[in-house]
Amino acid sequence: MLNTFQQADHPILPTATADEASRQEFAKSFKGFIQSTLLPGLTPIYQGRVARSFEKSNGRAPADRRDIRAGMVDDIYFQHYASANRVAQELLWESVVSSIDRQLPELNAKAAQLSGAAKAALDIPADFVPPRYVTALDIHCMPGGYCSEVCEDDISVGALYDRGVYLYSMGYTGPNNDDMGRSVVNYLKRHMPDFQPRRILDMGCTVGHSTLPYKELFPEAEVWGIDVGGPCVRYAHARAAGMGLDVNFAQMNAEETSFPDGHFDLVVSHILLHETSGKAMPRVFAEAHRVLAPGGLMIHADLPPFDLMDPFTQFILDNETWYNNEPFWGAMRDMDQIALAEKAGFDRSQVRFDTAPMAVMEFAAAAEGYSQEASEHVAEREFTAGEFAPGGGWEVLIARKADAAALAA
Ligand SMILES: C[S@@+](CC[C@H](N)C(=O)[O-])C[C@H]1O[C@@H](n2cnc3c(N)ncnc32)[C@H](O)[C@@H]1O
Repeated sequence: MLNTFQQADHPILPTATADEASRQEFAKSFKGFIQSTLLPGLTPIYQGRVARSFEKSNGRAPADRRDIRAGMVDDIYFQHYASANRVAQELLWESVVSSIDRQLPELNAKAAQLSGAAKAALDIPADFVPPRYVTALDIHCMPGGYCSEVCEDDISVGALYDRGVYLYSMGYTGPNNDDMGRSVVNYLKRHMPDFQPRRILDMGCTVGHSTLPYKELFPEAEVWGIDVGGPCVRYAHARAAGMGLDVNFAQMNAEETSFPDGHFDLVVSHILLHETSGKAMPRVFAEAHRVLAPGGLMIHADLPPFDLMDPFTQFILDNETWYNNEPFWGAMRDMDQIALAEKAGFDRSQVRFDTAPMAVMEFAAAAEGYSQEASEHVAEREFTAGEFAPGGGWEVLIARKADAAALAA
């Protein structure tokens, strides 16, 4: 794996000493090794011995991902794979935590300074209570989760996410970790060139990675990023200001925001839904419908539904549910999102899934905006089925709210 596809610098990105950088690089490469070398070994193990042994014991072939899992968990190769994966994930966060602890006072101070000078709003209510599905465990093993604060005006979790997610995605979400937002923005540019939203809401924005491309495409729009994590939106606000973008952030629950009815023309989210819950997801859809103006668009970019892939791929992906503190990961992929959107008030004929091609791949293909080495690095990656939408790219659920005439009828 090349090391050249580096994270873009900005004023509050944590720095790394040589030792810290080397630990981070090791964690990222270890993850890459598991994906490129150990993961492909699971298929022959399954076909060669696990499926046969399941059939012998049960008198039938494995029927679905649950049967496959029942057979695989007893296999020594799978056990090694799953433990290596978990260790890599813990190592990855740990390599960043120690680096952030070292520079926390200066990062907090710099963030406060950038936020203080920003024109855009930052709203962090004193009495906010985040939902239990976010605070009950450290999602994807990120120490402290999204909401922990260790001192006043703390941004440490935001800094941890910013650097950690770059390593987690092994650089494949681009130098600004913004590939999901950038890909949806490119999709809008291509398919709806006349769409000019005046107000845009990004739900579950974390540190605003995906939020900022919307401000770049629609510079006149009022853009809001909301998240239940206070340190995340604090960091997001300072990061956007440091990058010269005027974007508002607030600590708010996407299930129940404080925006007026019909306030936004575009409501988006990027990998938010699978980190909520079976009760919360319908409420997020209903809230998106409420805050959309007539004719407005809701777009959720998230994991493709399980029914689009074969049972073995489902089993591989569902390991996130079992071993990476992602309790809703599998269940969300089984939900009927079109029916949920309809229940939230969208007309079924105005709801559909589509694929937003990855901006990073399009850049690589066009060799535009990235160095030659970076382009080759991206082009080298195999985008395995199931991780992405069919054909490669992000899976997007798109729903249009009825226009004023239809609502009045
Ligand atoms: C995987 S991260 C999203 C990443 C981000 N959208 C991006 O593209 O970089 C999920 C985020 O959703 C937030 N979240 C979970 N439930 C939420 C809710 N009900 N309302 C707002 N944010 C929520 C979490 O705090 C977390 O920051």
